[in-house]
Amino acid sequence: MKNVLVGGQYGDEGKGKIISYLAIKDNPEVIARGGVGPNAGHEVHYKGKRYPMRMLSCGFVNEKARILTGAGVVVNPDVFLKEIELIHGNPKRCGVDFRATWLTKEHIERDGSQTPGAIGSTKTGCGPAVMDRAGRVAKTVAECPELKPYLADVVKEVHHAKNVLVEGSQGFMLSVLYGTYPFVTSKDVSASSIAADVGLGPKDIDGVIMVIKSYTTRVGGGPFHGEQSREEAGKVGMQEYGTVTGRPRRTSFELHWDDLKLAATINSATQIALTKIDVKFPGNAGVRKYGELTGEARKFVEEIEHKLGIPVALIGTGPDSEDIIDRREKVL
Ligand code: GTP
Ligand code: IMP
Ligand code: MG
Repeated sequence: MKNVLVGGQYGDEGKGKIISYLAIKDNPEVIARGGVGPNAGHEVHYKGKRYPMRMLSCGFVNEKARILTGAGVVVNPDVFLKEIELIHGNPKRCGVDFRATWLTKEHIERDGSQTPGAIGSTKTGCGPAVMDRAGRVAKTVAECPELKPYLADVVKEVHHAKNVLVEGSQGFMLSVLYGTYPFVTSKDVSASSIAADVGLGPKDIDGVIMVIKSYTTRVGGGPFHGEQSREEAGKVGMQEYGTVTGRPRRTSFELHWDDLKLAATINSATQIALTKIDVKFPGNAGVRKYGELTGEARKFVEEIEHKLGIPVALIGTGPDSEDIIDRREKVL
């Protein structure tokens, strides 16, 4: 089984938590990260500790899996090595494709001075690193001495393994092609691109899990319909703060159906993982059986399935990786 997991909104859908659940439950041999770079922050709670992961996959919670970062990702060696330390990783467990782009301090400086302010970039240097790659003047991680022990051929590894989970980053509405251009990130982040980031082609993919949060948030500039004030969002527990920048996220209580339909189509989503249903509908915290959700919550799940025509196979009911309803056997 080779599955790709992507964000269906503006990032921060809770991909980290879903990945960490699947990493343990499905026990993939290889968990590989695609997407842009250290602009992403995927948060996972594991054994009472919070891990905000920017370069390595949240799949690290499975200590037997190979944790890889694909060629398509721009890599900040300092962040990569700090996360290796954080998870007590080593070259036997973790690797980065030797073809990946080396994100340098100069890229970070340029992000600060050149990226248009209105976009609200994370200023982590990703855009300039992607530009240098396209301009064919970037270095690759193979030239970075500190990363030598971690260099890997991710393409070979993902093709050799039977059970692979690919972790995408950002979300569909931030895609440079299909999102709210120019208020977007620097790459396409739909499933095909995420797969290509780690070296998988369209026929290698068995399933696409699209993660959506029960409401919509966005951090940074750009159009955002149904936006509520921070005060209103706070009253219902929907005021969030960015994992990477700590900035307050903008909140809309609704799902943006037209955007989600396009996201489902272009991602070829085969299943939905719905997060934070407990935040949207109080009374559902920690529920692990579908039948135990409140009627209102179940109606919401049915509405999503009806409008998008895709089964909601996983439902998050709390921050812990185990706070999840796994309906895959029933609905897939
Ligand atoms: P990604 O970038 O998509 O990985 O999300 P993120 O980690 O940036 O998202 P965010 O910081 O908003 O959410 C992560 C936090 O929400 C983590 O602490 C998760 O444990 C928690 N979380 C994820 N899913 C759920 C859920 O279904 N219910 C609740 N209450 N919390 C959740
Ligand atoms: P950049 O990719 O850091 O230049 O940021 C461009 C836009 O994408 C900004 O609005 C960021 O807030 C947003 N963005 C980039 N990565 C993420 C992410 O992982 N989660 C949420 N927003 C992101
Ligand atoms: Mg995030």
